[in-house]
Amino acid sequence: MLKKIECFLNPSRLDRIKDELVKVGIEGMSVGEVKGFGRQRGYLEGEKINKAVKFLPKIKVEIVVDEGMVEKVIDTIKELCATKTIGAGKIFILPVEDAVRIRTAEVGKSAIY
Ligand SMILES: Nc1ncnc2c1ncn2[C@@H]1O[C@H](COP(=O)(O)OP(=O)(O)OP(=O)(O)O)[C@@H](O)[C@H]1O
Ligand SMILES: [Mg+2]
Repeated sequence: MLKKIECFLNPSRLDRIKDELVKVGIEGMSVGEVKGFGRQRGYLEGEKINKAVKFLPKIKVEIVVDEGMVEKVIDTIKELCATKTIGAGKIFILPVEDAVRIRTAEVGKSAIY
């Protein structure tokens, strides 16, 4: 079973996680600059909260792995992105129905590894 790990993190953590995740065994990753808010609706610690919701810059990281690797990948992200403060990020784990490597037409796990 393939799983997608989709996470929203602080942009400053990108360089740190990419190298560590390659060490852990990921074979690919997609990253995009996004805007987002969580429970604090975009307000930072100590900031006066108004009604308007604000967006903060985040990176969205998507990694498809075999299910046996999910725990290791999540532990690595948690370890490298954890802060005691709000807004450290969030990780979602989704089932992946299938994958195709276009060049070879391989599918499933063979399309990833
Ligand atoms: N329910 C959600 N759905 C989609 N994206 C989310 C959701 N919650 C958070 N995000 C994304 O994750 C980013 C980081 O969220 P954040 O770490 O602030 O979560 P939180 O639940 O507010 O936790 P904390 O209280 O530690 O700040 C958000 O800016 C947003 O991009
Ligand atoms: Mg938050």
